[in-house]
Amino acid sequence: MALPLPHSSSPVRFADLKERVILVTGASSGIGAATARLLGAQGARVLLAARRVAACEALLDEIRSAGGEGLAMAADVARDEDMHGLVEAALTRWGRLDGAFNNAGVLGRGGPVAATADTDYDEVFDVNVRAAFHALRHQVPALRRGGGGALVFTASMAATVGFAQAAVYTASKHAVLGLVRSAALELGGEGIRVNALCPGVVDTAMSDVGFGSPAGRDAFVARTPAGRAGAPEEIAPAAAYLLSQASSFVNGQALLVDGGYTAV
Ligand SMILES: NC(=O)c1ccc[n+]([C@@H]2O[C@H](COP(=O)([O-])OP(=O)(O)OC[C@H]3O[C@@H](n4cnc5c(N)ncnc54)[C@H](OP(=O)(O)O)[C@@H]3O)[C@@H](O)[C@H]2O)c1
Repeated sequence: MALPLPHSSSPVRFADLKERVILVTGASSGIGAATARLLGAQGARVLLAARRVAACEALLDEIRSAGGEGLAMAADVARDEDMHGLVEAALTRWGRLDGAFNNAGVLGRGGPVAATADTDYDEVFDVNVRAAFHALRHQVPALRRGGGGALVFTASMAATVGFAQAAVYTASKHAVLGLVRSAALELGGEGIRVNALCPGVVDTAMSDVGFGSPAGRDAFVARTPAGRAGAPEEIAPAAAYLLSQASSFVNGQALLVDGGYTAV
């Protein structure tokens, strides 16, 4: 019998997240929304950010109705000033930042690497890599003020293996992992942990587009030992774990949550 998927009212509990101030980017849908919902249910103060702020506000209403607390802001993570503004907003509202789930990302158009346009490369690297670099620039000083914290970046299983027809996306996620590992080495002595969350195939708006067709999706699922795609609610507990003290000795790691896809 298949077990039910976890959700915000499930027994998943990270008690130390209560009243922690955590920024979640890409909170308007998919993995970011599921994680923000779970963090809110733990009692964290969540700052929800994405370009589609109306979706973040709707999620915040839901979190507040369940007794949680937060703030929703429009932000384009590719813009340095927007990332700065998010961190400042957390400091102004709550006087601290304890962690961030840097999750916003784009897939790009994909296709043969030799035929990929510079504009596609720029869009993917601006959102997936430059934003991660800016996140470290602005979030690390804020965490230092509070004596430490945890940063989690959504990479992908594509940070650890190659994918034909998705070379630019794959390269961008490898770059995220490089930033994560290097920052972890630099910051570990200051009580700041930096980890990457690496999902496999997860049913979200991104994967709807990314598979290109139901047959494309089926091909990926067929290579996943779990025999199915994951749900965003199955990624969220791993993000919460990396943000919480439950992972206090985990630093600079790529946590694969991929139904076994990369276990070959
Ligand atoms: N789904 C998968 O199979 C899969 C697998 C591995 C890794 N991932 C990674 O998981 C993360 C979340 O993706 P998802 O699957 O949950 O897809 P999704 O539902 O499409 O979510 C993507 C999120 O990123 C936000 N975003 C994109 N560009 C942005 C920008 N310039 N500024 C601010 N926010 C931006 C989107 O919000 P707005 O459009 O409102 O700005 C949205 O909230 C991404 O980093 C993705 O690469 C996904």
